[in-house]
Amino acid sequence: MRVLVTGGAGFIGSQIVTALTERGHEPVVLDALLPAVHAARRQRPEPAEPAEQADPAGHLAHPQHPQHPQHPAHAAHPMHPLHAGPPSPPSPPSLPCPPLPPDGVRQLTGDVRDAGTVRAALRGVDAVCHQAAMVGLGKDFAEAPDYVSCNDLGTAVLLAGMAETGVGTLLLAGSMVVYGEGRYECPSHGVVRPGPRAVEALRAGLFEPECPVCGAQLAPGAVGEDAPADPRNTYATTKLAQEHLASSWARATGGRAVSLRYHNVYGPGMPRDTPYAGVAAFFRSALTRGESPAVFEDGAQRRDFVHVRDVAEANAVALEALHEPGGGHRPGGFTPYNVGSGHPHTVGELAHALAEACGGPAPVVTGEFRLGDVRHITASSERIATELGWRARTGFPEGVREFAAAEMRTPVTS
Ligand SMILES: NC(=O)c1ccc[n+]([C@@H]2O[C@H](COP(=O)([O-])OP(=O)(O)OC[C@H]3O[C@@H](n4cnc5c(N)ncnc54)[C@H](O)[C@@H]3O)[C@@H](O)[C@H]2O)c1
Repeated sequence: MRVLVTGGAGFIGSQIVTALTERGHEPVVLDALLPAVHAARRQRPEPAEPAEQADPAGHLAHPQHPQHPQHPAHAAHPMHPLHAGPPSPPSPPSLPCPPLPPDGVRQLTGDVRDAGTVRAALRGVDAVCHQAAMVGLGKDFAEAPDYVSCNDLGTAVLLAGMAETGVGTLLLAGSMVVYGEGRYECPSHGVVRPGPRAVEALRAGLFEPECPVCGAQLAPGAVGEDAPADPRNTYATTKLAQEHLASSWARATGGRAVSLRYHNVYGPGMPRDTPYAGVAAFFRSALTRGESPAVFEDGAQRRDFVHVRDVAEANAVALEALHEPGGGHRPGGFTPYNVGSGHPHTVGELAHALAEACGGPAPVVTGEFRLGDVRHITASSERIATELGWRARTGFPEGVREFAAAEMRTPVTS
């Protein structure tokens, strides 16, 4: 199967490209190489295996003449104030940016918001694996137009291109952020949906959401795919809109679409020192600088940390099932699947495990908070296990040990 992997030079996309190649498929990468993710590339020699670039008319150009889009989303971003600090020597090893695709994999440099680029990239393709997005909480609300443009306009342009060219199989990189707060049960009122946490409560160190009916303490549980969506920040809103667009596209064109709602992905190749990365990258970056990981709130936030190679395998398995006529996915349908390890941990546990594995200083619980964060979000990944036969294989202890020694990518601030 020839698969167009948008965002295929990113943290997760590059592992998907490897997984697809290993399973005998033919991935084609389309990536805008956003400077916020790949800036180090500009300070390094061009890769020996040159990437190709698609101009707006869809012609391929040589990479020595970069055509990075001029949209504000592509300007270098300063660091998040909560994590800013003087850059500390020594500089840890970092991966080539972008990571070079496996031998023989075609790599196009271009933006999914550009219809001509998309049209050219879709030529001869059987399926699309759409990973390209601006990720993370970012810095502040001023970035909302960039998130919406990159993630939602980008998805709409891609889907319009697929409709035009007749490519009928779509795998979307979804996210658990669409759920907002996870599943909670009140001893008196059963399953309830707590609203966003009040700033005053967070300032007072009261981090646990309460029962919206009686104010009682709640027990967190694993969220299923049928839980109502309740995005709590701009990024989450754009991830939900991507799903709605994918679903509309499937209905309108008779295509088949799946969204893999990843939980917290970690592993080799995570970007370091950027407000757009996940918590594992923040901790690892601090430890690499010889600093304690700064744990927000009280560290008891529950998450499901899933290894990037497991996520890549889930993508390959889901694409194979989608593409097969008898794979159980009907034309016009859209199916979301949670993708987690199935073994939740707290953020504090992750910080301790990483600090120990790195031989670094113990974590410090700061009590800081970010308004867009939710308290607990862990998934049931039973649907994908039952329907597609995928389960995560990397355990938390070995995954963290590997991550502690793994190389990270150097983004914009270095
Ligand atoms: N990392 C996680 O924990 C996590 C969790 C849930 C969902 N996701 C989703 O997984 C996907 C991949 O995330 P990641 O962590 O690998 O991020 P990443 O930033 O490492 O990779 C994203 C890639 O997309 C490219 N890109 C961005 N906008 C583009 C555009 N308009 N056109 C072409 N290329 C563009 C970037 O250059 C980058 O290489 C995203 O859709 C993200 O929302 C990630």
